[in-house]
This record gives sequence, structure tokens and C-alpha cells, in this order.
Amino acid sequence: MDISLINIDNKNIVIVGAQWGDEGKGKIVDAFAQNSTAVVRFHGGNNAGHTLYRGNKKIVLHLIPSGILHGNVKCFIGNGVVVDPLALNEEIEFLEENLIKTKGKLNISPGCPILLPTHVLLDKAKESKNFNNIGTTVRGIGPCYEDKVSRRATLISDAYDEKNFLDKLNLQLDYHEFLLKSLYAYNDINRNEILENILVNTKKIINLVSSSNDFFEKNGSGNLIFEGAQGVLLDIDHGTYPFVTSSNCLPNYASIGSGCSPKLINECLGVFKAYTTRVGKGPFPTEINDSNSKHMLEKGKEFGATTGRTRRCGWLDLVALKKVVSIAGIDRLCITKIDVLTGLDELYICTGYKINGSVIKNFPDNINALNKVQPIYKKFSGWKININNIRIYNELPKEVINYIDFISKFLDVPINLVSNGPKIDDLLIV
Ligand code: GDP
Ligand code: IMO
Ligand code: MG
Repeated sequence: MDISLINIDNKNIVIVGAQWGDEGKGKIVDAFAQNSTAVVRFHGGNNAGHTLYRGNKKIVLHLIPSGILHGNVKCFIGNGVVVDPLALNEEIEFLEENLIKTKGKLNISPGCPILLPTHVLLDKAKESKNFNNIGTTVRGIGPCYEDKVSRRATLISDAYDEKNFLDKLNLQLDYHEFLLKSLYAYNDINRNEILENILVNTKKIINLVSSSNDFFEKNGSGNLIFEGAQGVLLDIDHGTYPFVTSSNCLPNYASIGSGCSPKLINECLGVFKAYTTRVGKGPFPTEINDSNSKHMLEKGKEFGATTGRTRRCGWLDLVALKKVVSIAGIDRLCITKIDVLTGLDELYICTGYKINGSVIKNFPDNINALNKVQPIYKKFSGWKININNIRIYNELPKEVINYIDFISKFLDVPINLVSNGPKIDDLLIV
């Protein structure tokens, strides 16, 4: 497909994952970015892994927005993102080594909390206790957001004055050392090494500091993309708590996490996989463990882009997706990885749940209820022909069109885009 056809018509759009993450958001943001002026990440941290391709070259981004491969697109890491300076420098170096320029394009908000090595140690220590671990990415995300909410965090802007910076870092490290020693009997903390790491790596990125807020004042009229990370079902407030991440993945957070007026945002695009995956622990009503999940795992290469963990696989869950469409205010949808389902004899879509003998149509708010539900499935015929090279929607096998039509009608939301491969132009406009 000619990707110039993906035009955002002077709108400012938020692109979010509509499941439990890894829906293929990165690729879709990359496709839209070529007609945008800026891409803004507004929450999360380097727990994200967004995969893009240029030819056969695979590029996985964790903190840097998925617009970075386009020459004229500005990229902002908004104040809602927690930034590990070492991880960010490694990502910048990786891009520069691959001849992808970041200078003059990448900007970081002064309001980003700094993610410290001790946040990673705390995350690891907590996760190593089996009674309340949830299978985090162990990138320190939860502990860093805890510090932000407790008003203990050191922000990028604190580094403007080295004495103030060191004072704040030391106070934060006192607290982390106390937690690590008293809760986890972890005594192996080298404070000097940690401070050195933070000072050196923050110095390297300080010249990138520039508020997205100022940019919006001048360029807010359109063609901005706000890039979500994770997925709405991992949202700290509205996801499957406590098996969630520590930030708000909902599109509403785009304005808070980037410092723009909520009135600036015109539209929300939800990205979802043709089936469902989840990494880490937590309820997953349509999870399967059979030859079909093996097919999804292998053909879909369902291994985490950040941690390499095997993703749990299952059928598409429209009860969950309906909730997401409703709370996220999704205007239109993009279905990804439809090509992965090629070759299966029969496909199933969950349209309701059974709990204690009763049928329910809504996603339960309560985690205990969610753990008990049994999915009710509608069966669909599969297709055998390779659909990777098809670029015109109506040329897809009727079984594919039938599958997509059903989802769109059930949710009462248009599915405007179909992704049928990992590359930027593996896209069909409906
Ligand atoms: P994100 O976190 O939502 O950006 O998604 P990830 O990059 O973590 O995972 C999506 C995976 O699916 C990556 O390996 C992508 O290259 C790949 N992918 C994205 N869209 C498609 C598609 O339509 N078909 C296939 N086969 N792979 C896709
Ligand atoms: P992208 O942006 C899938 C999951 C973790 C764990 C939970 C909490 O690539 O879609 P955290 O490290 O955030 O404290 O972990 O959230 N998780 C993701 N799952 N994709 C992601 O990001 C994720 N980021 C976090 O597996 O269950
Ligand atoms: Mg991912």
C-alpha cells in the first residue's frame, strides 16, 4: 500500500493499544508518522517495546517515540514518561549506529521523573518474592512511579543545578537503601557507582530538554500523534488491577502526560490484534494452550520485544475490547496480525462470558469474577491462502472480510485499517 494514503487530515490523534499491550502500535504509529509533524510519548517507560522495520532491518524502540525514523518528524518524550537515562542513551546510540539521526528531532520534557538503578533493584527484589509478583518487565517502572506520586522523585529539570540534583538524588537513595536493606535484606548497593551513572547519563541528555508544551503552543493546529504504550487493559485505574502497569494507558492521559490542552486532541485510534496476547501474570479469559495457541505463538513470533518472554496467546475477546472501546472513547480501529491466523481451520471470537451459570455481556470490574468467567465463542471459518501480499481490502478472502466485519459490527466502531505483516507498508485501508 502507498503509505502516503494514511493521512491524518490535520487532526491530532492518540494511538493506543486496545488489549494487554504488544498490539503492533509501534508499526502503526510509524505508518501515520510520515504525514505528521510530531510524535509524543505520554506515559510508561522502557517497559515498552515497539517494533518497527525498515526493509529487513528490525528496530525496537523502548523510550523513543515511533516517529524517529522519519526525517522531519519531531519526537517528544512527555512529562508522563519515566526516563532511565542509561537506557535512553543506549537507545540513542543504537539508532545513531544504524544511521538514524536523533539530533534536532528528539526532545525530552523537563518534568520526566528519572528512573534510577535502585528502582530496578526494588522492582527485581519485589518480583523475586513469589507471593505478590505480577511478572513485571523489571525495568523499575512501578517503584519510579511510586516515587513520583510520593513527591520523592528527581526530575530531569533538577539536573539544571548539580548541587540540587545531588541533594535530591541522595535523599531518594537514602530511602531506597532503607527499603532494600530492611525489606529485602539487599546490602549490595554502591552509592558512588549509582550517582556516577546518573550524573554521566543525565549530562548526556540534558541538551535534549525542551518542553512539548511550548511546541504545542506554536504547532498545536494539527498532525500531532500521541503514542500510547502498553494497552488499556494494563491501565493503572481501569485495567485488570493489580495485574497492570503503573501508568495510565488511556488516551485521556495524553494531555496530562505531554502538557497540552485536552481540547487539542481530536481523535483516538485503537490498535488491536486479531487474537489476544498477554505477558506476565493476570486474568486472561480467552487464553488457550493447544495447537491453535502454538500456531499464534510461532507464526506471530509472540516473544516480548523488551524481555524476550513468551507471550500467552488466546482468541480475540470482544467483551474486553468492548469495554476498552467504551472507556477509551475509541473512534476507529486498526486490526493487526490478521495474517497470523492464516492456516487455522476454524477461528473463535469471544462474544460473552458465563459466570456461575449466568451469561454476562460486560467485562467484570472485579478481578475474582474475571478469574471465574468462561468465554462464550462464535465459530468462524479459516482461510488457507497467503494474504501477506494483498494490498486491496476487497481482494482478501471472504473469510477474512467476514471475520473483520463481524468485529466492527459487534463493537459498532469502524475498522479503517488492516495490518497483514510487520513491515510499514503491510497495511490495507478499508
Ligand atoms: P507494540 O508494543 O504494540 O508496538 O508491539 P510489539 O512490537 O511489541 O509487538 C508486535 C509484534 O508483531 C512485532 O514483532 C511486530 O513486528 C509484529 N507485527 C506488527 N504488525 C504485524 C502484522 O500485521 N503481522 C505480523 N505478522 N506481524 C506484525
Ligand atoms: P508495549 O508498549 C506488554 C506488562 C508486564 C506486566 C505488567 C507490569 O510494548 O505494549 P511493568 O514493568 O510495567 O511494571 O509490568 O505490564 N507490560 C507490558 N506488556 N507490552 C508492554 O508494552 C508492557 N509493558 C508492561 O508484562 O504484566
Ligand atoms: Mg511491545
